[in-house]
Amino acid sequence: MDNTINRRDFIKHTTTVTVGMGLGAGALLAACGSGGAGDAAQADGAPATGTGNSAKATLAKRMLGALEVTELGLGCMNIAWAYGPSTGKDASIALVRKAYESGIRFFDTAEIYGPFISEQIVGEALEPYRNEVVLASKIGFDIDFETGEQHGLTSRPEHIRLAVEQMLKRLRTDRIDLLYQQRVDPQVPIEEVAGAMAGLIKEGKIRHYGLSEAGAATIRRAHKEHPVTAVQNEYSFWTRDPEAEVIPACEELGIGFVPWSPLGMGYLTGKVTPEYSFSASDLRTSMHFPRFTAEAMVKNRPLVELLGKVGGRYEASPGQVALAWLLARNPFIVPIPGTRLIPHMQENTAAFKVRLTADDMRELEDGFARIGVFGDRAPAGLKEAHDIGTSLGTTSKGTHGKTPLPKQ
Ligand SMILES: NC(=O)c1ccc[n+]([C@@H]2O[C@H](COP(=O)([O-])OP(=O)(O)OC[C@H]3O[C@@H](n4cnc5c(N)ncnc54)[C@H](OP(=O)(O)O)[C@@H]3O)[C@@H](O)[C@H]2O)c1
Repeated sequence: MDNTINRRDFIKHTTTVTVGMGLGAGALLAACGSGGAGDAAQADGAPATGTGNSAKATLAKRMLGALEVTELGLGCMNIAWAYGPSTGKDASIALVRKAYESGIRFFDTAEIYGPFISEQIVGEALEPYRNEVVLASKIGFDIDFETGEQHGLTSRPEHIRLAVEQMLKRLRTDRIDLLYQQRVDPQVPIEEVAGAMAGLIKEGKIRHYGLSEAGAATIRRAHKEHPVTAVQNEYSFWTRDPEAEVIPACEELGIGFVPWSPLGMGYLTGKVTPEYSFSASDLRTSMHFPRFTAEAMVKNRPLVELLGKVGGRYEASPGQVALAWLLARNPFIVPIPGTRLIPHMQENTAAFKVRLTADDMRELEDGFARIGVFGDRAPAGLKEAHDIGTSLGTTSKGTHGKTPLPKQ
């Protein structure tokens, strides 16, 4: 089993790709990439001093289990739907290719994004670069392959196999590098899902597998059946839920962690304010996300101001500090900020140049503890699909997670 890595000393600091967009000169702490709290933050609290040469700045590599990826990826949900209307196929292909040119080698999609639209765009955009990129996608929903009609969750092994065949066509490839189960299926023992993933790995149709919105008990059960490469749960400066159980479990087991919504669904960039014009199709307001009420957007503003204050030392934006904060938390964390727009992607990608010091990290933690967060991370209806132990106030300790135990 090739993806059992428990040591965290495998961070690589080199890659051949350069990133053009720079931060201000004093902010460029570039040449080594960022490796996590241990090395990103300086022991003496003094700002790290890199080469300061943006032309030579490169994205470092990180390991998710045994899978090597760039330290930042591109979330490809929003090119299909979610937060405002898609910019269309041509603009989305241009965005994905520009991300590649900017040094991103890790792309995150799912069959549900559209459905199918994001995978089709990602597949077409990356076809010329297929052997140079890591493609991650997700199964887990019962979607009619012809009509795209959705009927809730399913991770039955026979469905996973059929779904993968369809995905390979959309992604224009013969293998998916990382296939996640997007939501635990309360009807299917996680061992059966892990077993199906192991079978697909053996056949070469996928290279690694992961879980999304899974709790520690489920992760441990799956990992025992076949090593899990990555867990993808919501995590960001204002959403700390995985810190209690999931991230410690990943660290213990040598599993990578991929935070979704690393920019707090855009809020942490500082550009989503009560004056922001949400379109009718924007899930943040149409699905009543508690942190996107006018009241919450005002009350949580001090968090953005704190990120901005720290960013001021590096000529970095609040969103860049939110991403740099994730990179500095642990070396096995790889954020996948999502956007539809090339300038936003470039801003996000340049976040790796911000090397937060130990003092910065302390200030951010103290400030977060003092300010707190107004509103839950998701509406109750959506959280129902999350596993036990993935949200603050729940624990998977003493449980076997949400899925039934396998029949003996
Ligand atoms: N596993 C799961 O269940 C799950 C769930 C959700 C998401 N994901 C994955 O995680 C990825 C990222 O999460 P996310 O998209 O939910 O949230 P996010 O990355 O935290 O934020 C995305 C939002 O921020 C805005 N944004 C991005 N960069 C910006 C910038 N520099 N300046 C201003 N606004 C900016 C985007 O709008 P613009 O388009 O206008 O830039 C978009 O509305 C997704 O694309 C998807 O691949 C997975």
